[in-house]
Amino acid sequence: MTNRLRSNRYFGGYNQQSLVRNGHMQGLGFPDGLLRSGKPLIGIADTQSELNPCNAHLGSIAEAVKRGVWEAGGVPVTFPTISLGEPNMLPTTMLFRNLMSMDVEETIRANPIDGVVLLGGCDKTTPALLMGAASVDLPTLMVTGGPMLTPRFRGRTMGTGTDARKMADDVRAGRMRPEEFFAAEGCYARSAGHCMVMGTASTMASVAEALGMQLPGTSSIPAPDSARLQAAHRAGRRIVDMVHEDLRMSQILTRGAFENAVKVSAALSGSTNAVLHLLAIAGRTDASLELRDFDDWMRDVPWLVNLRPAGEYYMEDFHFAGGLPVVMQRLGELLATDAMTVTGRTVAENVADAECFDDDVIRPVDRPLGIGAGTAVLYGNLAPDGAVIKQAAASSDLMQHRGKAVVFDTIQECEAQIHDPDLDIDENSVLVVRNCGPRGYPGMPEVANLPIPRKLLERGIDDLVRISDARMSGTAYGTVVLHVSPEAAAGGPLALVRTGDEIVLDVPARTLSLQVDDAELDRRRAAAKRSGSKFSRGYAKLYEDHVTQAHQGADFDFLVGRGDDAPHGGDP
Ligand code: FES
Ligand code: MG
Repeated sequence: MTNRLRSNRYFGGYNQQSLVRNGHMQGLGFPDGLLRSGKPLIGIADTQSELNPCNAHLGSIAEAVKRGVWEAGGVPVTFPTISLGEPNMLPTTMLFRNLMSMDVEETIRANPIDGVVLLGGCDKTTPALLMGAASVDLPTLMVTGGPMLTPRFRGRTMGTGTDARKMADDVRAGRMRPEEFFAAEGCYARSAGHCMVMGTASTMASVAEALGMQLPGTSSIPAPDSARLQAAHRAGRRIVDMVHEDLRMSQILTRGAFENAVKVSAALSGSTNAVLHLLAIAGRTDASLELRDFDDWMRDVPWLVNLRPAGEYYMEDFHFAGGLPVVMQRLGELLATDAMTVTGRTVAENVADAECFDDDVIRPVDRPLGIGAGTAVLYGNLAPDGAVIKQAAASSDLMQHRGKAVVFDTIQECEAQIHDPDLDIDENSVLVVRNCGPRGYPGMPEVANLPIPRKLLERGIDDLVRISDARMSGTAYGTVVLHVSPEAAAGGPLALVRTGDEIVLDVPARTLSLQVDDAELDRRRAAAKRSGSKFSRGYAKLYEDHVTQAHQGADFDFLVGRGDDAPHGGDP
């Protein structure tokens, strides 16, 4: 058995390299013989960073994982990775997700580790860890950092981007004093942890559990709760067993696992960002997953989890209602229940004994918040490769809509002109912003929920059909068609729309069409200037040259496909 271990190939034997390697590891304080003893070496990928406050507490979770690894007879070592903090990074953390995945992949592959525990939390850290680790395919287990405690301000809960925007509006309009505004800042993040509504981070943590990559019931444990340290300790024990069982990511990340993740994200009314991330993770495996699958799989799924932004409650409430095992148990045969998970058992076995403690937070299937309210995938001459819309966030009266386009070439132009009282726009208009896709911006920022003109807001109109090649925040709202593919900057037809063109959105029919005939579109295409490269060097240049389109998950073209754990250039 021990000969199978990667670590044994590095630390065993009597040669110069084994002396140097063992010697250096003994420099950590490990006693002699420890790494020659055939104990699995477990790498713990730590995304702790004070530039990423959502993940700033992961060091304590790493310590708990280590205790579990030691207890089970493994040797734990932590290693840092790039960390992507949503609130602070520009232009958008999405620009760096693939870079982080490369860091994770190459660090795992290049080092003598036998199994990996991935510590993530903030939005992009979870998918980047899974993407990178999947490309090496060692026994791997994920522990996310958990949601923050529910913030309270003056007797009320808060904590979404929507709350922040409202307070910013209130203070500018004189409805809130600056002192109150500053006091709200102090309450906004009540503890360590990721955002505590069903935004992108909570969606991805849940998705990681639904994929079978986290221990059941652990993704929702609040960040500062001691139960999270207990779960991390158990994860440490379990990864050692997974190495002995040689239970690898490729046995867990099957098409059935992705089906489960997609369906669970619909039952959660989760973030549209999960679409991109799941496509990118699947792209690193043998499991086929296409944008079209999301629509097929989500159609019949009941929306069960009543969490903000679409519902009422917070992650803490979700956890104490029973968390994800209840959701998966209730979805029952809608799921691929025979999918293998990190426990070494199937989904069906993991959730058999799940119990719900609050049926208003996690609805029974006969009392859902909606059916098929997940992400719909639209096709048409404006989005030949697809576009998505989050139905739970959209206005029902706009789901079938015909209107004239008001087009902006950049988000900056849109923001500068949208509130101009002379702008020719009304409640029937369709607001289009382009050049915000993966290549165009670059990095596909979360700007798709474009601002509503003030003159319409003053008339009580708070939603318009909006279309772009951007993403939107998991906490955003509106009838927003996003991820239009191909994007304008890659020559997609979105580049050809002109103000005044008619656009028809029909969500029930899953279509998005521009009412301009092909001959005219061809003329426009021939006359269009293709924008050249924006960058001459560095990572942005690499990104611009190699990012794939939204319907492919916006991974790099050269990262797609299954990798393995053999060091580049062969074994030592
Ligand atoms: Fe990090 Fe929301 S900002 S999870
Ligand atoms: Mg977010």
